[in-house]
Amino acid sequence: MKFPIFMDNHSTTPMDPRVLEAMLPYFIEKFGNAASRNHQLGWEAEEAVENARKQIAKLINCDAKEIVFTSGATESDNLALKGVVEMYKEKGDHVITCMTEHRAVLDTCKALEKRGIKVTYLPVAKDGLVSPDDVRKAITDKTILISIMMANNEIGVIHPVAEIGKIAKEKGILFHCDATQAVGKIPVDVEALKVDLMSFTAHKIYGPKGVGALYVRKKGPRVRLVPQIDGGGHERGMRSGTLPVPLIVGFGKACELCQQEMPTESKRIAAMRDRLQVQIMENLDECYLNGHQTQRLPHNLNISFAYVEGEALLMGVKEIALEPRRVLPERASDPAAPTQPEHQLRVRRGRSPAHGCQGNRAVLRIGLHLSHAGAVLRVAGAGRGFGPGPLLHPVRARQVHDGGRGRLHGQADGGGREAASGDVSALRDGKRRDRLEIRPMGRTLILKALHVWQACRGEIGGKDHGL
Ligand SMILES: Cc1ncc(COP(=O)(O)O)c(C=O)c1O
Repeated sequence: MKFPIFMDNHSTTPMDPRVLEAMLPYFIEKFGNAASRNHQLGWEAEEAVENARKQIAKLINCDAKEIVFTSGATESDNLALKGVVEMYKEKGDHVITCMTEHRAVLDTCKALEKRGIKVTYLPVAKDGLVSPDDVRKAITDKTILISIMMANNEIGVIHPVAEIGKIAKEKGILFHCDATQAVGKIPVDVEALKVDLMSFTAHKIYGPKGVGALYVRKKGPRVRLVPQIDGGGHERGMRSGTLPVPLIVGFGKACELCQQEMPTESKRIAAMRDRLQVQIMENLDECYLNGHQTQRLPHNLNISFAYVEGEALLMGVKEIALEPRRVLPERASDPAAPTQPEHQLRVRRGRSPAHGCQGNRAVLRIGLHLSHAGAVLRVAGAGRGFGPGPLLHPVRARQVHDGGRGRLHGQADGGGREAASGDVSALRDGKRRDRLEIRPMGRTLILKALHVWQACRGEIGGKDHGL
């Protein structure tokens, strides 16, 4: 087995070899500019772009002409929010969004506030979900845009987007949805959801980095945007710039593969995620699932570990590439000024801890893999000599947040138990609080993960692309 095992698929995914294969001819042989109308190379490039546009449109059930290519979801979010606000400024100056949006939306809102736009940041309930009722109540006669994400990039919860879309339609307000984490992972249908604008990106679905799309509704209503990049008038004037044909071809191919493989793969990966969750929960005390139990992405697992800082836990678990997220202590934070990645896990305005997280806990975001790009728990990179050795490296927590309340109890195989009981008594005695050894916990986690990985490998057999 090669290490590290990549479990951070919310941040990005490896490219599917079939995507790369589709892209390759467009770098050298078919290098034309899709806007060149007078020769073969231009026509070829344009045809490839239009084919990709159709593949992408099919995945989200829209017309190909409603897809505007961008450099990624960050740009799509910027174009949607700033473009709408500038276009419809005579109609109103109020935008509704949610406190747990990605920073591509929140920071854009912050920039809009500086221009005099009023933004309502809705809180989420303990399960991480925004309430459609709260959306309805926040609407004023000045509201011109609602922007609510489909699936949260930290805890994977799926917001009630169809209900929010219905409310927006009833009230005649444009509805933007950042569906970056949802597209390709769960069915997304812009008609059923009644969204008017939708952002997504290729690199979260086994496509290349550097290309994304904004869906812009053409009919019922026809949405208009003020472009944020001026130039040659590409993409129906909404986004100028020479199209990156190879990236777009890759994006199209990635969408086609998702369309074909998502229904079966998402079921299978959800079953594996559930197994991993059960194993972690059964073997480690004091860990908690963040977010709604069932209304979540099939490949997401987000767990808090008591008494441990995420970075510290991962320092000794280098065999798995995943993201620690720190839960900040309870405090009212300014939602309009989120500057840390963990803003989504902060407690909001004196409400219950967001997503059910409790303060001072390490949070691990585990993003598993749809296997069409290879194996289920993706092994990233070549083997670098990680043998059993690193498993035995102690993980040291720089700080222990115990407060005398509980205990740390690792149930690792073999030699871990003694260390665990030592840790527990250290906690109880209040000693070694700054350099607590949590090896059993890290070790158990990785052993369980490897176990699941091995089981998955056996199951996928021929689909494993040589990993
Ligand atoms: C929900 C969400 N929106 C936007 C983005 C930004 O996407 P990109 O990297 O394509 O700009 C991300 C990436 O993490 C995301 O998860």
